[in-house]
Amino acid sequence: MLDDMKHLIELDKEHTLLSHIGAVLGWDQETYLPERGIEERAEQIAFMEGLSHEKAVNPEIGKMLDNMEADEKIEAIEKAYVRVMRREYDKETKLPSGLVTEMARQTSLSQAAWVQARKDNDFARFAPHLQKMIDLNLEMARNLNPTAKPYDVLLDLYEFGSTEESIAAVFSMLKSDLENVLKKIRSRPQVDDSFLHKKVSQAAQEKMSGYIMDVIGFDRTRGRLDKTAHPFTTTLGRDDVRITTRYVEDFFPSSIFSTVHESGHAFYEMGIDPHPDFRGTRLADAASMAVHESQSRMWENIIGRSAFFWKKHYKAVAALSEGALDGVSLDAFVRAINKVETSLIRTEADEVTYGLHIIARFELEAALMRGSLAVADLPAAWNAKIKELFDLDVPDNARGCLQDVHWSMGAFGYFPSYALGNLYAAQFWTTMKGEIPDLEKRIEEGDSAAVLAWLR
Ligand code: CO
Repeated sequence: MLDDMKHLIELDKEHTLLSHIGAVLGWDQETYLPERGIEERAEQIAFMEGLSHEKAVNPEIGKMLDNMEADEKIEAIEKAYVRVMRREYDKETKLPSGLVTEMARQTSLSQAAWVQARKDNDFARFAPHLQKMIDLNLEMARNLNPTAKPYDVLLDLYEFGSTEESIAAVFSMLKSDLENVLKKIRSRPQVDDSFLHKKVSQAAQEKMSGYIMDVIGFDRTRGRLDKTAHPFTTTLGRDDVRITTRYVEDFFPSSIFSTVHESGHAFYEMGIDPHPDFRGTRLADAASMAVHESQSRMWENIIGRSAFFWKKHYKAVAALSEGALDGVSLDAFVRAINKVETSLIRTEADEVTYGLHIIARFELEAALMRGSLAVADLPAAWNAKIKELFDLDVPDNARGCLQDVHWSMGAFGYFPSYALGNLYAAQFWTTMKGEIPDLEKRIEEGDSAAVLAWLR
């Protein structure tokens, strides 16, 4: 290995350490931080981001990349590493450090304001923060690529190479297919899922989540589960991947499927294990957001909602349900957790309507970034979209445009990766089943290790 390569890896590992330390602060903010700790936490996170940015724009990195790009003899994995580092280095060097720090600071404040605004159903309280996050993202996009459309620049950050046009082409097909399926389902007798809405205490739901994450193979010596308003996965270290879930007293499947979903994300993070020389570098990172989401949604929907999965595990979960599932057959349970119905909340949506929720957000954020939709008009535009897609009236903004965390974090361009993830997941699953013909039978017998092994 070249000295330049060794030196680059050393510098890059410092960047990863800083990002993991930052993740500790972020995880703590979402889980256990007392209310008044938020102001200084925002300063701490901004400080860390600043440090990390400083490291990432070190001109030495640029020089080493130039040298290695000119070298024909480097190995394939080294070439891949240089390509990833070049993309990251160019991204970082184009952003002024003032903008990076300001974005980190505003993100913390905006997220905290969103939590409160959603709780109080108070869009006006969140609106100035949303405006600020939009402005900062537009500025970031201008810095990254002054000639491209801002939304295209942002989409590219989550799914490398994608544009509004390329995604719209996929989504227009998906939209009409999903609408047709939905129309057919709505014309048929509806599934009874009333027993899923019986009260189950948080303590019992915690046990259900614990059971499920254990049987699908979550290694608790390398991660843990906690409770947040919005479930997420975060990597605090190579062997420390945290997931969170949300407990809804009168809909226990919410916590189960959030736990399975986030476990899928965690499996992906825990499974990234490249050549030992590149451990702790940015090569040891996800391929893209959509690929990440393909993992979580495969575990959640394709495996987690299947009859072959529940055949083995239904009894144990029913026993933890405090009577909610008494007298409910396996078949009735599997039908209920697959019920398709129009609804207001994306994270509770079924597989059919989920894609439509994403398409709505894609169209709205594209309009926000284009400037054809003003922040003040977002609630009305949101409600009109939900009326158009689902024929539902949105009763309040908490169940409307305030429901998702993403825009409060300035993550514009993130939503499409969920729907793309579904499409990737279906393709991975089909290929996997082709290569492991008794796959479903193995899972039915309680062995899902084959899935994880194949994916890795
Ligand atoms: Co996810």
